[in-house]
Amino acid sequence: MGTPAKTGAAVTLTIDGFDITVPEGTSVMRAAAEAGISVPKLCATDSVEAFGSCRLCVVEIEGRRGTPASCTTPVAPGMVVHTQSSKVRKIRKGVMELYISDHPLDCLTCAANGDCELQDMAGAVGLRDVRYEPGRNHFEQRAVVGDNPEYIPADCSNPYFTYDPQKCIVCSRCVRACEEVQGTFALTIEGRGFDSRVKAGMAGDDFLSSDCVSCGACVQACPTATLQEKSVIELGTPDRSVVTTCAYCGVGCSFKAE
Ligand code: FES
Repeated sequence: MGTPAKTGAAVTLTIDGFDITVPEGTSVMRAAAEAGISVPKLCATDSVEAFGSCRLCVVEIEGRRGTPASCTTPVAPGMVVHTQSSKVRKIRKGVMELYISDHPLDCLTCAANGDCELQDMAGAVGLRDVRYEPGRNHFEQRAVVGDNPEYIPADCSNPYFTYDPQKCIVCSRCVRACEEVQGTFALTIEGRGFDSRVKAGMAGDDFLSSDCVSCGACVQACPTATLQEKSVIELGTPDRSVVTTCAYCGVGCSFKAE
């Protein structure tokens, strides 16, 4: 969740009126969490380095211009942070509106319904309506390759999980998990703007023919149903699971308990 706390001198700051003391190098987001304050986020997780790409975790800091991302901003002595000002709440809502405008609205039939961070964050920021017209959005335009409209179907080549580019918000959590958790470097982001998407391997590769080792780190990291276990698609989200971590992959395995 944001930049991990570093061991070092203690730093005291104020977040939403609470005095908090954390080690030097701790991110504002993590410091807020230490105080029980939850800052909305999409691209930050505990398992990968903070990247600051989704802009959902913005905060106001007295004496500083702009609204920095709390996941990549380290604490400083005497810092006064506001995580729920009307300004940042408005920004977050606008950011979420853009994400949702680019996302299929099939929650009720989606395998991740009820277990989707995008869905959770839309609720957390109070998003009720999207002002943008459907049909000009990312998930449809992304299917245009060069000048040729070309539907990019889900990649189901991996025996354990699927990749559906239409549901991708390009947060890069999967790419970073592949690199930082597994050290495989099988994934990258290709394209720019509306055409950006996650790519496994080189041109012409799918997940199966890429360097992917099926460790599942990317699936664990995905905040939507873009990368989804086939067992979840076929059987539904398990109501109980066992998670273990072994020296081999360090990711953890989960299975449904009948
Ligand atoms: Fe901080 Fe995404 S969670 S920018």
